[in-house]
Amino acid sequence: MQLIVKPQRLPFVYTWVAVAAVIAGSYALVFLTDPAPASANRMHWYVARASGMTSYILLAIAVLLGASSSTGLWDRWKLRKLTTQLHQFSALLVFPFLFFHLWGLHADTSVPFPLPSLFIPLHASYRPMAVGLGILVMYGWVLLIVTSYFREKLNAKVWRTIHILAFPMFIGVTLHGLLSGTDTGKPWATLVYAIPCALFLLVSGRRLFVTRSRRQPQHPKQREGQN
Ligand code: HEM
Repeated sequence: MQLIVKPQRLPFVYTWVAVAAVIAGSYALVFLTDPAPASANRMHWYVARASGMTSYILLAIAVLLGASSSTGLWDRWKLRKLTTQLHQFSALLVFPFLFFHLWGLHADTSVPFPLPSLFIPLHASYRPMAVGLGILVMYGWVLLIVTSYFREKLNAKVWRTIHILAFPMFIGVTLHGLLSGTDTGKPWATLVYAIPCALFLLVSGRRLFVTRSRRQPQHPKQREGQN
């Protein structure tokens, strides 16, 4: 499987360039208007929070599109191809924003985040459990993307089992954001978490229903109709 199919390659590069340009532009603006050290003007702290929220939204889009694809929802509107591409694209796009999330945390000096605290669960002094959940999801997400890349070389059952881990990962990262984030409780942040969670419940319920009804033995007349 190609992770980024040809039509996605340019948009993917453009997105990286746009993200880098926005960050560089924001840095330039902050230093021009307020030349105090970044620790004083809190630039990195904003970067960490904004990119955390963006990674969360992208991860949620990837999980929701992936989970809904097998329910037949998109086939009805002939949107399956588009949603599959969006699913892969948003899943990959989590990484650049995750990079900025970690970089912002590391560069912000108000709460120390040395490199080991970014990569070793329970190492951080700040909310170690909640931050640890974020670190575990990061590793899980890397595993999920890498195994998708080598899907053809893997046993289908192994690939599927790893891919299904996206469900607990979504729950884990929601808890991570809610329990470690500064913005938890703000009305806009409540919406950012509540909308994907509500859709997640709906899609998971529909998936369960569809899987169960597919497993039900068919009526002989239905089977005849298929022959
Ligand atoms: C896929 C992985 C991750 C996603 C989607 C994610 C997402 C988020 C979100 C949505 C928030 C809330 C931000 C806010 O309230 O403004 C947050 C906060 C935070 N995350 Fe992550 N995160 C991820 C991985 C990590 C990792 C690996 C670390 C490692 C240290 C980490 C450390 C933190 C910290 C310390 C905060 C609190 C920041 C603050 O609001 O001051 N996250 N994250």
